[in-house]
Amino acid sequence: MRAVVTGGAGFLGSHLSDKLLAEGWDVLALDNFITGAKGNLSHLAKNKKFKFQKADVSKPLKVAGKVGYVLHFASPASPPDYLKHPIATMKVGSVGTQNALELALAKKAKFFLRRSGSFSATRRILGTRQSHRATRRL
Ligand SMILES: NC(=O)c1ccc[n+]([C@@H]2O[C@H](COP(=O)([O-])OP(=O)(O)OC[C@H]3O[C@@H](n4cnc5c(N)ncnc54)[C@H](O)[C@@H]3O)[C@@H](O)[C@H]2O)c1
Repeated sequence: MRAVVTGGAGFLGSHLSDKLLAEGWDVLALDNFITGAKGNLSHLAKNKKFKFQKADVSKPLKVAGKVGYVLHFASPASPPDYLKHPIATMKVGSVGTQNALELALAKKAKFFLRRSGSFSATRRILGTRQSHRATRRL
């Protein structure tokens, strides 16, 4: 099974990619690095089942090959990021979601949309633990 993970260089997208790869999936991560980090994916560089494509999902998406699932996690996710990138945040939640849906439609793939989290829920769930991939500006 092959999944496209939008926001694959982000907190949730990178951990989800790890999980899918561990279960034997092929993963194509898409990201424009607006809030994500290359370092979140560096440990996957030699994994033959993992591919990365730099892409802004708010622009029409071109993905080669079969896709079974489109998992849409691309979006800034913290209040400081929303304030820093207000237009990009609104665009990825609207146009980006439409583009991800159109990709799923074109590939006859199943589609999963992450639900926007709230600041309080995120802090409650994640606490303030800091690690190389849990860095969150709460
Ligand atoms: N972190 C949480 O606890 C949590 C909880 C519930 C829901 N969510 C939601 O899940 C989504 C992802 O959260 P996160 O914590 O992984 O955020 P994150 O900022 O760590 O990751 C988001 C990723 O999306 C990428 N991105 C943003 N706009 C893009 C675009 N136009 N094109 C391509 N890539 C783009 C960023 O570069 C980043 O790598 C958000 O919508 C968030 O609201 C997060």
